[in-house]
Amino acid sequence: MATISIAQVDPRVASFIGKPRKMLINGNWVEAVSGKTFPTYDPSTGEVLATVAEGDRADIDLAVKAARKAFAFGPWRKMSPSERGRLIWKLGDLIDEHVEEFAYLESLDNGKPLTIARAADVPLAAELFRYMAGWATKLEGNTIPLSVPYTPKAKYLSYTLREPIGVVGQIIPWNFPLLMAAWKLGPALATGCTIVLKPAEQTPLSALRLGELIMEAGFPEGVVNIVPGYGETAGAALAAHMDVDKVAFTGSTEVGKLIVQAATGNLKKVSLELGGKSPNIVYKDADLDLAIPGAASAIFFNHGQCCCAGSRLYVEKPIFDKVVEGIAENARKIQVGAGLDPNTQMGPLVSEEQLKRVCGYLDSGLSQGAKALAGGRKRGEKGYFVEPTVLVDATEDMKVVQEEIFGPVVVAMPFTDPEELVPRANDNIYGLAAGVWTNDIGKAHRTAELINAGTVWINCYNIFDAALPFGGYKQSGWGREMGHEVLNNYTQTKAVCARVA
Ligand code: NAI
Ligand code: MG
Repeated sequence: MATISIAQVDPRVASFIGKPRKMLINGNWVEAVSGKTFPTYDPSTGEVLATVAEGDRADIDLAVKAARKAFAFGPWRKMSPSERGRLIWKLGDLIDEHVEEFAYLESLDNGKPLTIARAADVPLAAELFRYMAGWATKLEGNTIPLSVPYTPKAKYLSYTLREPIGVVGQIIPWNFPLLMAAWKLGPALATGCTIVLKPAEQTPLSALRLGELIMEAGFPEGVVNIVPGYGETAGAALAAHMDVDKVAFTGSTEVGKLIVQAATGNLKKVSLELGGKSPNIVYKDADLDLAIPGAASAIFFNHGQCCCAGSRLYVEKPIFDKVVEGIAENARKIQVGAGLDPNTQMGPLVSEEQLKRVCGYLDSGLSQGAKALAGGRKRGEKGYFVEPTVLVDATEDMKVVQEEIFGPVVVAMPFTDPEELVPRANDNIYGLAAGVWTNDIGKAHRTAELINAGTVWINCYNIFDAALPFGGYKQSGWGREMGHEVLNNYTQTKAVCARVA
């Protein structure tokens, strides 16, 4: 694994990470009230990459005040929907103008391959803003005919208004730092909310660079405030804040439950995008030239650090050995290395904590009798690398089958009877996504209907689009991201009833 020096980094990025980064409050870049900073690490070496202002309750308080002022009195609320849409569109275009910079920041801070950040994370973020820009002018209510029995002679004109929910707190994870910021900010801006965003402590850099572009695009001060910091301090303060109207969270189911509790003080609205343990089902009539690389990429994309990763692989018995050997072969060939290395296909996990967590699951699976057909271990001495792993001989009760690993580890299990498959696939606390591979179109759609998950991919996996809603059944969350459905998270309906005769 070659180590890449910072000197090879785009010079704009080198200068961005060379200075301690501040937080964005009310249009100004400021230090933490406490004066504290925290380090963010390069996961390919474990060395400090940059230092960032450490937001805490006091900073969250200032940011919420700025967001409230911008919501109640600022020019933002007076702007026409079209003006709002144009600003959001401009932000998408600005991201496109800075693809290289963002790709480097994502790769350095998160560990993902530069090539992937450049081809997926950054353009998807730009597209998300452009998609949401179009919604700003299309947030319509209804007119509603009334038949009130106790005022038979009266006539009414009744309609609904869809109003922004207000000040929104957004807490995001580290697996797609820029894209998660876009998923959250885009719809909140389109609906006219104001925002306090808390990026993940592992990966704050791209959100802070995005903050600069937000100000460059011309958003009024206080509309977007960005406070980096730790979950237990800044995140918890935001979730509990009495003047925040809504909190949107993406992360672990465990913390999702804490967010719900924290929201009870003022009963702020909550939307959650949480964990998953998604079943990926390969029927014996599948096109294996598609299904084998498809199932490999379903788990290995982003090093398995995807909430929707296809981590429980169910393969019909007659083709089990062939499919699983094919995926194992694929796993063995994956080039693991630093994100900036152009040969890298899989980078390190994001943090030492994740490395420990994933290795803990590997130990647990192997000690309970699962076997690694490929991988199974940490790789190298430096950085947070794990081998792409295919586990077989697992039983449904094992932790590696039931719990989210969030690493490049797939557990493959055979099935004989398609009838018993669906209950097995649904037997999990999560319901985020699923994959189905078959050439039988009827079977594909019947399976899609029976699976309890917010997304079902047929003969493909990990296909995302700003127009396609994404979110979870069961303990995978509340509400949907993207598509027009996400706008419900950020609007509230007012019914207006006028007597006209
Ligand atoms: P986490 O849920 O602790 O962190 C996600 C975000 O929540 C971060 O911004 C963090 O600072 C914040 N946070 C943490 N504790 C908080 C609290 N008490 N109040 C408010 N905000 C808080 O996730 P973590 O620890 O990084 O990863 C643990 C596991 O979570 C992973 O192994 C994976 O299973 C899952 N996860 C799921 C993600 C998803 O996309 N659904 C993304 C990241 C992690
Ligand atoms: Mg955590």
